[in-house]
Amino acid sequence: MRFTASPVVELPVGGAVLTFEQDNDSFEVGTSVWPSSLVLVKFAERCLGDPALPFADVLQFSGTRAVELGSGCGPAGLGLSRLGLADFVLTDIAAVLPALRRNLRRNRSHLPRKPRVAQLHWNCPAQLAALATRRRFDLVVAADVVYVQESVPHLIAAMDALSDAERGVVLLGYQIRSPEAHQAFWNAVPTAFPVIEKVPREHLDPDYAYEESEVYILRRRPRQ
Ligand SMILES: C[S@@+](CC[C@H](N)C(=O)[O-])C[C@H]1O[C@@H](n2cnc3c(N)ncnc32)[C@H](O)[C@@H]1O
Repeated sequence: MRFTASPVVELPVGGAVLTFEQDNDSFEVGTSVWPSSLVLVKFAERCLGDPALPFADVLQFSGTRAVELGSGCGPAGLGLSRLGLADFVLTDIAAVLPALRRNLRRNRSHLPRKPRVAQLHWNCPAQLAALATRRRFDLVVAADVVYVQESVPHLIAAMDALSDAERGVVLLGYQIRSPEAHQAFWNAVPTAFPVIEKVPREHLDPDYAYEESEVYILRRRPRQ
């Protein structure tokens, strides 16, 4: 389910309204905006700065190095950038990067710091290695990326390769889009991220709590 057929999707976040140009007629799924990304951003906005929440550590963006997989038009990445995730690389396959860059330019004035954009196919060791040269990331963000069963092992391998081996966390906007991909993902992901928390619906923004979308936090180790 795409979010809307409208050519421009609005996302009010952090006191600004980000706008995303989408092209639903393209062959690339990444040129549309998908609802899990909006659910993810509005969840972060709602819960940011509440230290009493069990996942508060994930939303403390100060000093966090983050990467997004499958950014598409950039709703999750640019929304979280607006909320202060400053050291951030947004990635996708080459065919989707023009749409991502276009939307980054559209929203640049609302972002405290410009995120980097990089090409990443999950099954490309050279691109993965280039991203993790300095060190691995504290946070991997992904929204609506589990829909092709054959891609699931590569997606999980990319999350694993990019994420800090001790402290790495994945913030995942999720919707079941293929029963086979769904099963393959949840069967395999605990090998890399054994601690899996589903955010209770009460913590989602009620205006952006689409029935089918969920937010998960995947960890290497239990929270300290
Ligand atoms: C359903 S779209 C979601 C886009 C965006 N995250 C959103 O929520 O609007 C899935 C994204 O994953 C990307 N993707 C799919 N397979 C990929 C792969 N093997 N390597 C890298 N990106 C991939 C697509 O190009 C697309 O941008």
